[in-house]
Amino acid sequence: MTRPLRRPGLARWLADSNDVTQMFLAAGQIPDLINMAGGLPDPETWPVSDLSRLATRAITEHSGEALAYGPIEGLAGLRDAIAARFSAPGLCLGRENVLITTGGMQALDLIGKVLIDQGGLIAAQSPAYLGALDAWKPRSPTYRPMRVEAADFDPAAALRDAQFGYVVPNFSNPTGRLVGVEDRRAFVAAAEATGTWLVEDDPYGTLYYDGAPLPRMLTLSGRDEPVYDGPIIYLGTLSKELAPGFRIGWVIAAPDMIRALVSAKQGSDMCTSGLCQRIAQDAFATGLTERILPQVLGLYRSRRDALCAAMNRHLDGLFSWEIPTGGMFVWATALNPALDTDVLLREALAHKVCVTPSSVFDPEGRDRRSIRINFTLNAPDKLEEGARRLAQATRAALGAA
Ligand SMILES: Cc1ncc(COP(=O)(O)O)c(C=O)c1O
Repeated sequence: MTRPLRRPGLARWLADSNDVTQMFLAAGQIPDLINMAGGLPDPETWPVSDLSRLATRAITEHSGEALAYGPIEGLAGLRDAIAARFSAPGLCLGRENVLITTGGMQALDLIGKVLIDQGGLIAAQSPAYLGALDAWKPRSPTYRPMRVEAADFDPAAALRDAQFGYVVPNFSNPTGRLVGVEDRRAFVAAAEATGTWLVEDDPYGTLYYDGAPLPRMLTLSGRDEPVYDGPIIYLGTLSKELAPGFRIGWVIAAPDMIRALVSAKQGSDMCTSGLCQRIAQDAFATGLTERILPQVLGLYRSRRDALCAAMNRHLDGLFSWEIPTGGMFVWATALNPALDTDVLLREALAHKVCVTPSSVFDPEGRDRRSIRINFTLNAPDKLEEGARRLAQATRAALGAA
């Protein structure tokens, strides 16, 4: 006789999945697909032989750090290197301001653990990075969208009563937009005046293709204290600057925030890989990241130009877009309001091209007018063909509308 079987359940927040996720999973199976959906670096930019030398050295000369459990906060030498790299006139950073994380994604997860009460309010730049929305989803937060580029945007009103604010000032994911220096200053003043933590998520801060880098909000909030104690929680990562597989990220914040994040990290992964931290430390110490940067910028600048030229040829009259001055993405908005970009994704996959629809960057899933197109992964001929296929798919989706 078979015993009756009751399936064990899962947490309730997992029930809330969407079609788009299912479509992305299916996309991996499509042969000859041109993938312009992810935020992926080109593997050609990875300095493989330098990294293999640093990896060998880490294991043979620093096995105590590379192979043992390490401190939760991260290796002292790497924390010091990051404190030195981001210190600036008026901004004194010490080791106590730095936590090493397992990628920038873990920093977002830990911030959710230490700052979001169930159902709490987050003031987030809109549209918002999908990974952040995913990381915070188990807490079922409510969102106050911040449209930073709107003429009447008021950062103090936006941050008031929120558990924290979340901004990607350098070439936002998904829009590729840059937050201007006056808006950065206004954000810092608003965070200070309202007593609100403000997360500055900065994976694209080294990827400026035109013009000089703008000051970080972290730097603008420095007050000459011996140890930084302001409201900015700055997130960095090696993923776009060196290689994402190391999963090395960092948080720079006031010491009490770092201590809170350390408590959360202890219950998460105990410590970030010592081997990867040691490689990162030596990559900074030997100037590897600075050495490869000009080549990376040259490659990505030319791909940005190639994609925008291909879009002019194929997508003019279907979408509007701005040319991003850095980062990895072009954000394109349909000229015809009848176009539903979730439907477009289905057509795009049928035409063997993949982009990301705007619904996934909206906590409510309601924005269906835009798409995010990545330009860093594919060579110019692929970008050209991808834009051509996307135009065909758009016409097909509009035909079906
Ligand atoms: C805005 C933003 N934040 C954080 C991350 C996380 O990056 P990682 O976990 O690879 O450091 C990404 C990755 O694409 C991103 O675009």
